[in-house]
Amino acid sequence: MSNGVISISLDQHLPEEPFFDTQYRRAPKRELLLNEREIKLALKNALRYIPEKLHEQLAPEFLEELMTKGRIYGYRYRPEGHIQGKPIDEYKGNCIEGKAIQVMIDNNLDFDISLYPYELVTYGETGQVCQNWMQYQLIKKYLEVLTDEQTLVVTSGHPLGLFKSHKSSPRVVITNGLMIGMFDNPTDWSKAAALGVSNYGQMTAGGWMYIGPQGIVHGTFNTIINAGRLKLGIGEHEDLAGYLFVTSGLGGMSGAQPKAIEIAGGVGIVAEVDYSRIETRINQGWISKVSDNLEEVFRIAEEFKKDKKTIAIAYHGNIIDVLRYAVDHHIHIDLLSDQTSCHVPYDGGYCPAGISFDERTRLLREDKENFIVKVNESLRQHFELIKELTAQGTYFFDYGNAFMKAVFDSGVSEIAKNGVDTSEGFIFPSYVEDIMGPMLFDYGYGPFRWVCLSGLETDLDKTDQAAMDVIDPTRRGQDRDNWIWIRDAKKNNLVVGTKARILYQDAIGRRDIALRFNKMIREGAVGPIMLGRDHHDTGGTDSTFRETSNIKDGSNVTADMAVQCFAGNAARGMSMVSLHNGGGVGIGKAINGGFGMVLDGSERVDEILMASVPWDTMVGVARRNWARNEHAMETAKDYNKNYGGDNHITMPFVASDEVIERVFKNRKS
Ligand SMILES: NC(=O)c1ccc[n+]([C@@H]2O[C@H](COP(=O)([O-])OP(=O)(O)OC[C@H]3O[C@@H](n4cnc5c(N)ncnc54)[C@H](O)[C@@H]3O)[C@@H](O)[C@H]2O)c1
Repeated sequence: MSNGVISISLDQHLPEEPFFDTQYRRAPKRELLLNEREIKLALKNALRYIPEKLHEQLAPEFLEELMTKGRIYGYRYRPEGHIQGKPIDEYKGNCIEGKAIQVMIDNNLDFDISLYPYELVTYGETGQVCQNWMQYQLIKKYLEVLTDEQTLVVTSGHPLGLFKSHKSSPRVVITNGLMIGMFDNPTDWSKAAALGVSNYGQMTAGGWMYIGPQGIVHGTFNTIINAGRLKLGIGEHEDLAGYLFVTSGLGGMSGAQPKAIEIAGGVGIVAEVDYSRIETRINQGWISKVSDNLEEVFRIAEEFKKDKKTIAIAYHGNIIDVLRYAVDHHIHIDLLSDQTSCHVPYDGGYCPAGISFDERTRLLREDKENFIVKVNESLRQHFELIKELTAQGTYFFDYGNAFMKAVFDSGVSEIAKNGVDTSEGFIFPSYVEDIMGPMLFDYGYGPFRWVCLSGLETDLDKTDQAAMDVIDPTRRGQDRDNWIWIRDAKKNNLVVGTKARILYQDAIGRRDIALRFNKMIREGAVGPIMLGRDHHDTGGTDSTFRETSNIKDGSNVTADMAVQCFAGNAARGMSMVSLHNGGGVGIGKAINGGFGMVLDGSERVDEILMASVPWDTMVGVARRNWARNEHAMETAKDYNKNYGGDNHITMPFVASDEVIERVFKNRKS
């Protein structure tokens, strides 16, 4: 910078050749659908970041990356060694938000956190922080000069530039993967990504708010315990002690199940065919017993059930064998689900019964046709076993893994509600439709999170305690569950990367915790804090088959709420706001609005929190209320009563079905 004029671009010198540590996973080659003209365009696009004198040298390197990896990542521009979210004081910057946001970006790229760290993928197979390392370098430079009267605009990972704004404006505005309607599909998006003009950010990857695996554990805990409340009649002050949950999968997300069942106090049996996945969870301490003997598995489960003690048992083998054993031996299963990767059953996501994991891998490689036949046979058996168990009182729910669709595709039309096609859904409920939607999202409960930017463990302990003090565990079962979660959070030892915590809360809970934290910072009790959330929430996300799947007024195909949430957060001065296409489910299937808010202890931040934090959640409650969701109507009514001076939510009048039917019949006759 000179004479107040900023000049920001990559340096003239060529970085060293990249080094790849082989202990870290690498992203597979991505689909490359470009023709020759487009390949040249992609190359030209990537070279926009590079000073001209380096083009001769880097053009062939970038072309090689494109042809072998399907994308240009600019590996040479990755900073050497271990990237990690360090204490905020170790970063350079002109404002606290610039430094805080860099902490979050670096945490998303940490070797211990990121799925494919060299390809900037944080989670969800393709969710990237930004598209390439040149963008990373430029964003970092911008964040270092950013002042509290400027806004950095980031379009699909590309830092478009710094623009003059106000102290009360967001410091960073991010959009990811947004496409014009007619191109809003995976194929056109994939071309745009290969051209280097679009990024799939999932949500907290490209929205820079990922905090490692604890987020998924809390969500899974909430799903299981609320399934118990809804279907097993577990009281508001009870947990799953004495109940059995059977499921499958110890992979990326599914691996949270054993930890969640132990936190919920129940007994869990989780089938997993791949022993290496079991090993990962043993090393983490997330399972307490492994066996490949079903007699032993069920005997131990029964003992722990009787004693009302908790245990998570990994069964090394196929879920079908577990279910058949239970049917044959008349063993009662209380809760049943499945988290095999049924969204890709024929690509290895679902291991057929009767063969080992190694045999499955061989068949997949050498005899795909036979593999598909076996998968279909297995899915049909799986369905029959679930039918037998549910007939005996087991509650089965689909865990958002497209299990029911896979069963339908295997030839079981009976699983479709109308027995013909999937247009009216399936005979078994899905976890959001039945559990998370009505039990949590309609009240406003969602995945509130914070990061102690000082990097101090003691700050995290103090914030855990403060958050616990804000919750009234006697108000609702959900509050009690969240109170227990935060009480035991440290003991459960779930932190990976920055000192972060997730805690499901409703709108006012989130606001009050945020204000409490800001006061603690003001008083010098803790250092600065970053707040945020993920997409699995009441507000922010419009996702027809996931977050908004329990919206039945026809508006679950619209994305107005997510966009309003994003715009409203920006208008109210959140530090960082983001809007993404596809988070959680894929391009064209969801829109997610997210945020990050830096607490610095100031009164300015108090004012922003008062207006923005409740808005971020209540926009979702208001919309769910308008869709006539009972619990959302209750919540909106209370909100109008308690916060009526400043807010008012439009309430629906609910027409009785009897009136509609009569009017309809009269008109016809
Ligand atoms: N946890 C959540 O909150 C959540 C939310 C939405 C969707 N999902 C879905 O859950 C699924 C699982 O996600 P993941 O990240 O864990 O995937 P993953 O592929 O990492 O794990 C799935 C595991 O299932 C095992 N498996 C496959 N077939 C089996 C069988 N027949 N018996 C026993 N084990 C078997 C595999 O070996 C693998 O380890 C995905 O479809 C995902 O989209 C999860």
